[in-house]
Amino acid sequence: MITKEMPVEKQTKERRTETIMQAGTPERQNEIVITELVKKFGDISAVDGLNLEIRRGEMFGFLGPNGAGKTTTISMLSGLLALTSGSAQIGGFDISTESHKVKELIGVCPQEVAVYKFLTGMENIILFGKLHGMEKQQLKERAQALVSQADFSDAAKRRSKGYSGGMMRQLNLMIALISDPEILFLDEPTVGMDARARRKTWEYIGSLKDQGKTVILTTHYIEEAQALSDRVGIIDYGELVDLGTPQELMVKHDAEDLERVFLKITGRRITEGL
Ligand SMILES: Nc1ncnc2c1ncn2[C@@H]1O[C@H](COP(=O)(O)OP(=O)(O)OP(=O)(O)O)[C@@H](O)[C@H]1O
Ligand SMILES: [Mg+2]
Repeated sequence: MITKEMPVEKQTKERRTETIMQAGTPERQNEIVITELVKKFGDISAVDGLNLEIRRGEMFGFLGPNGAGKTTTISMLSGLLALTSGSAQIGGFDISTESHKVKELIGVCPQEVAVYKFLTGMENIILFGKLHGMEKQQLKERAQALVSQADFSDAAKRRSKGYSGGMMRQLNLMIALISDPEILFLDEPTVGMDARARRKTWEYIGSLKDQGKTVILTTHYIEEAQALSDRVGIIDYGELVDLGTPQELMVKHDAEDLERVFLKITGRRITEGL
């Protein structure tokens, strides 16, 4: 039963449960269902008929070389880019017609850092929390917990204008996490971080799974993706070229790691040119 007095977050959860129960089909248990998704930029098919289902609570590695269509897919799923054709549901909501509902469920750490440089780190986090309609006290507590977990408490007091590239990425990730979303899109979350910050961030991303989050992760750090992902989707020229657990893919292609899996499928390296 949904009433107007209920917090938006609760309404969303109830609506989703109802939707799933009404649908009653196992497919609707999938958190993300992508069907024949296409994005064209002029003559370029950045995403070319993508079909993919991602399960609730899954850590999903979305791997592919530069220009494969990963960011374009994430941008469409998170409502930042219109679809050319096809469809997708997130948590049972259609991304084209129910994007406001989808936005309540997701957190996005975009590949291009999106922060207000004239604000401090903390002010940025608080601002994005407010945009999610978070209650003041809860927002403050969560923001403080996030910055202290990331050893970012001192940096958070400074204007982000003076941040290094790696610090910007750390802030970008905290902004994605502030509303404690059920579903996270992390697009190259650790690029530019030093080894220590990267290790801590990978550990943290691993812990999101224990919290029951669904995480869609793109990265060129193939080893980390291999270690963390329940399943991996390999994308090339906007198409899914293979899908499975890292172990399944390595066995299937008789390869020692995912980099070699990609090499065997396409004759190229995922990280070529980096
Ligand atoms: N706004 C745009 N206008 C024109 N072409 C675009 C635009 N955005 C992406 N593309 C093109 O779409 C293709 C897919 O790009 P996308 O950014 O999705 O790749 P990616 O897999 O995220 O790559 P990377 O690993 O480098 O981040 C590329 O050929 C890119 O040049
Ligand atoms: Mg990208």
